[in-house]
Amino acid sequence: MKITYVDHPLLQYKISQLRDASISCHNFRQITEQIAEILTLYALKDIEAEKTTVNTWSGPTEGLKIDENALTIVPILRAGVGMLTGVLHYLNNTGVSVLGMQRNETTLEPEPYYEKCVKNLENRTALVIDPMLATGGSLADAIDLLKSRGCKRIKALVIVAAPEGIAKLEREHPDVELYIGAKDDHLNENGYIIPGLGDAGDKLFGTI
Ligand code: PRP
Ligand code: URA
Repeated sequence: MKITYVDHPLLQYKISQLRDASISCHNFRQITEQIAEILTLYALKDIEAEKTTVNTWSGPTEGLKIDENALTIVPILRAGVGMLTGVLHYLNNTGVSVLGMQRNETTLEPEPYYEKCVKNLENRTALVIDPMLATGGSLADAIDLLKSRGCKRIKALVIVAAPEGIAKLEREHPDVELYIGAKDDHLNENGYIIPGLGDAGDKLFGTI
């Protein structure tokens, strides 16, 4: 499995700010978006681009063109929505496929509750976004679902990951690319990432 740990100091600075227990809702939202932008840059480093000619004020010059319809952004509800605007800053014409997964807090198993995908998934690279990779259940199930709908190329962008979740994805989806902001230490007895961010969905939606 191709795993990229993004160790850019700016990203690490932003993750450190995100970890602060006293962070405001506003800052948590804004920094989540900023981190999503940085992860997008890394995830799309190998994106297909075509040569094009741009008519500039001083005449024609060579440029690059990206087909935004060859991608779909896949936020996993709810917390993935917090990263969506950051990705859209670069891909504002790309279709968004939404998957709802709620982790059962007793069994820690994900329970799917919503799905609305764009057409032609088989011809698109999916950028799955979720700030937290804990047991890996939610992301693994989301990827299963995308594959069952024909998606062949999948990149997942997560802000904080536990070793347990990374290992599950390596076992179940070795063909997927994973872009990670921080690999944390472990999961606690309630399935929370340590040191982690706490409950990212609650912080983003103000449901604390
Ligand atoms: C969180 C998070 C991931 C999932 C990670 O969502 O955003 O989707 O848990 O845990 P896992 O790797 O063990 O599956 P949650 O189910 O709490 O829903 P929310 O985003 O609506 O808060
Ligand atoms: N979901 C979260 O929001 N945080 C965790 O640490 C684990 C799952």
